Amino acid sequence: MSSELITHIGELTCVDAEARVLTDAAVVVEDGRIAWIGAAADAPAADTATDAEGRAVLPGWVDPHTHLVFDGDRSAEFEARMAGESYAAGGIGLTTEATRAASDERLRDLVLGRVADAVAGGTTTLETKTGYGLSVEEEARHARLLARLKAEGHIDAVTFLGAHLVPAGRDAEDYLDDVVGPMLEAVAEHVDWVDVFCDRGAFTGEQSRRVLTAGRDAGLGLRLHGNQIEPGPGVGLAVELGAASVDHVNHLTDEDVEALAGTWAHWDRAGATGTPGVVAGCLPACDLSTRAPLAPARRLLDAGIEIALASNCNPGTSYTTSQSFNVGTAVLQMHLTLAEAVRAATMGSAIALRRQDEVGSVEVGKRADLHMLAAPAAIHLAYRPGMPLTHAVWRAGRRVR
Ligand code: NIG
Repeated sequence: MSSELITHIGELTCVDAEARVLTDAAVVVEDGRIAWIGAAADAPAADTATDAEGRAVLPGWVDPHTHLVFDGDRSAEFEARMAGESYAAGGIGLTTEATRAASDERLRDLVLGRVADAVAGGTTTLETKTGYGLSVEEEARHARLLARLKAEGHIDAVTFLGAHLVPAGRDAEDYLDDVVGPMLEAVAEHVDWVDVFCDRGAFTGEQSRRVLTAGRDAGLGLRLHGNQIEPGPGVGLAVELGAASVDHVNHLTDEDVEALAGTWAHWDRAGATGTPGVVAGCLPACDLSTRAPLAPARRLLDAGIEIALASNCNPGTSYTTSQSFNVGTAVLQMHLTLAEAVRAATMGSAIALRRQDEVGSVEVGKRADLHMLAAPAAIHLAYRPGMPLTHAVWRAGRRVR
């Protein structure tokens, strides 16, 4: 048993049932879990103590959507987009070529470097995906790499995205036979989730249904990329199949919003208990990097839908792991309050991974994932956009930054 007292916290944002924000607070961490929360003046003794000197503390960020296994450079594609080109899914093929050519060691180092960047910005829970392999052998290689990184405690959840794009030279239906057959069989033991890119230039609604039902039959949870490039069947499919999240959601109809809202009928939002519905994953950095309309986060929240904020780190549309950037942008551009944006990047994202009982808030019994800012209050995340505001990070009670 080892314990640490973190005291003189200027502002402690708990993201708990009462949405408590405590001032002059303290937290005791014991064996990787939160053991006590309260006023600094009442804090019990612990083996060691850290003086926050008035800084703000939040739950560590949860990032429920990243694509960290990639090699190669697509900065020219980004630059062309900033000069007026629009985003098309085809660039995924370029990254696939470069990633296939990378050795196991190089891919591992690249992923670990990206995880380290995420942690340095306050992220303590990470999902990441395959999806730049696009052959049985390569998708299995990437799934094995990620499963090992998960077992070593670097990441928390692994998603199979063999249905990211139809690879060059393959027929879509023929490729899907692989995805739902030998590819799924090869990756299933290494992954937690199955995902599909359901949009123009990638997979149709019917093709996406095929991938998701096969994944479900193999025991995987369901997630989708949907409604990114144009309105389409992604949201409806996510609702129909009971996916944990549908991410991007830039182009939504009234029916889409209504359908998503309907999935939250048996959920107690404040207490985060009951049956969770389909989380709408909003990806502000991606929206800005593709000059897409920002996902309608305000409208989704007002309709009673849990939203998540995710980095979507990938070389095509969002080359960042900064959840602090996303929270600041959600306040500045998406018209969320600070509390709503912080909840979306912590508890909302935890719900998207169905990990809300373990992470996403500062509550007694939860994993001690803490993000201390170099600022007295969390509003500085939006007030001082782009500033390096992460002062310290604890993951499962261990100081990782
Ligand atoms: O989530 N939309 C699909 N996948 C990624 C983009 C991948 C790429 O362009 O390389 C995304 O934005």
